Amino acid sequence: MSYRLDLKTGYPSTTIAPLDRLSAIASEVIASGRGFQYGGDLRGHEGARAQIARYLTEVMHMPAESSHLMLTTGALTAIDIVCRTLTEPGDLVVVEDPTFFFAVDLLRMSRAQVVGVPMLADGLDLDALDRLIAANPGRVKLVYTIPSFQNPTGYTMSDAKRAGLAKMALEHDFYILEDATYEPLYFSTPPPPPLKTYDAGQGRVIVVASMSKVLMPSLRLGWIWANPAQMNAFLRYKSDAASSRLTAEILTDFMSDGHFMDQVTRVREVYARKHDALVATLRANAPEWLSWHAPGGGFFIWATLPKTMTAQAVIERAHEREVDVFSGRASYVSPLDDRSLRLCFALLDESALCEAGQTLCEVITEIGSKSLGTQPGETRRQRRGPRCEG
Ligand SMILES: Cc1ncc(COP(=O)(O)O)c(C=O)c1O
Repeated sequence: MSYRLDLKTGYPSTTIAPLDRLSAIASEVIASGRGFQYGGDLRGHEGARAQIARYLTEVMHMPAESSHLMLTTGALTAIDIVCRTLTEPGDLVVVEDPTFFFAVDLLRMSRAQVVGVPMLADGLDLDALDRLIAANPGRVKLVYTIPSFQNPTGYTMSDAKRAGLAKMALEHDFYILEDATYEPLYFSTPPPPPLKTYDAGQGRVIVVASMSKVLMPSLRLGWIWANPAQMNAFLRYKSDAASSRLTAEILTDFMSDGHFMDQVTRVREVYARKHDALVATLRANAPEWLSWHAPGGGFFIWATLPKTMTAQAVIERAHEREVDVFSGRASYVSPLDDRSLRLCFALLDESALCEAGQTLCEVITEIGSKSLGTQPGETRRQRRGPRCEG
C-alpha cells in the first residue's frame, strides 16, 4: 500500500541526478558498443575504479588506489561478499542496534550470528562491545558500522570512538566493516575522519559504499575498498562476475570530466534544504515531549515517542491521513519496545515534507494527548509555530 506523503522509504529523489547528461552518455555508450560486453577483470572496470579512487581521495581525504577497489552491484552486494568471506558459522557479527535492516538480513545469510550492541548518540556503545567480547572470547569476527549519519538514527560516531573501535579491532582480532554510504552527504560540517584512517595499514577496516545516494541508485554501483590480499579472498565470493560493464562505462564517462565533486556539492545542498524544511516543521509543530534528532547529514531524522505511546498506533493513524513513516522497531536486532520512528527527508519535495511533517505532528499530538493527558495545542512550540503553506 502506498501513501501520498512518504516519509518511510529511504530513497533519494530524481532531482539529484543530472538526467539529461546521464542519458546522453548512456546513449553513446550503448550505441558505440562499449557497454555491450562482459566486464573481464572480476574487480570491475578499471576506468570506473580509477575514477572512484580519485573521488574517494577527495571525499574521504585518504589516498585510494584503483587496485584496492572492487566494484559490486551496490553496497548491499559488497556487505554480503565481505561478511561471507570473513566469517564462518558460529562467529559473531556485531551491528549497531538499531541499524540498516537490510544489512542485517544479508549478514544473517552468512550463517554467522548477528548480535546487536546499543547505538548511542555518539556511536556504538564501546563498553557494551567490550563486555560482549569478554563474554565470548575469540568469537567476534566482524563489526558492521555506519559511522556517519547512520541509518536509521542519523547519529554520527565521534572521533574518539572511531579511534577506540579501530584499536579494539587490533587488540581483539576482529574486522570492521565501515559502511560509508552516507559519508559524503554532510550539510555544513564534515563528519570525523573515516574509521579507515585509524587502521594504519593493518587491514582491519574494510570500507563499502556506493553511488546510490550521490548519483543514482539504479546504477547499482557499489564497491569494496580493502587491501589487495583481502581483495583476492573477496573475489572467491563474487557471484556477479565483473558487475555491470554498462553502468561502469556510463559512470566512467560521467566522472571523467573532473566535475564529479560539483555533483556531490549539489546533492549535499539538495538534501540540506530538504532536511531544513522537515526540521523547521518539526520545530514548529512537534509537541515538546517528543524527542527527535536532527542529523548533520544523510537522510534520516529519528524520533522517540514517550513510553505510553506506540509507533504502530501513530503509523496507523498517519496512514488514514496519507502519511507513511517507518517504524524504528524493524531496525532493531533485539527490539525492546515500539517507540521509535524513522523519518526520511530525501524523497519528498520541500512543500510535501512540510505537509507530511505537520500532519505527523498532529497525529502524534492527538494520540499523545490521550495517553499523556495533555491537550492538543497545549505545548509551547505548537502555540507559536508557523503552519505550512499550500
Ligand atoms: C547504510 C546503507 N548502506 C547501503 C545501502 C544500499 O546501498 P546500495 O544501493 O548501494 O546497495 C543503504 C540504502 O538504503 C544504506 O542505508
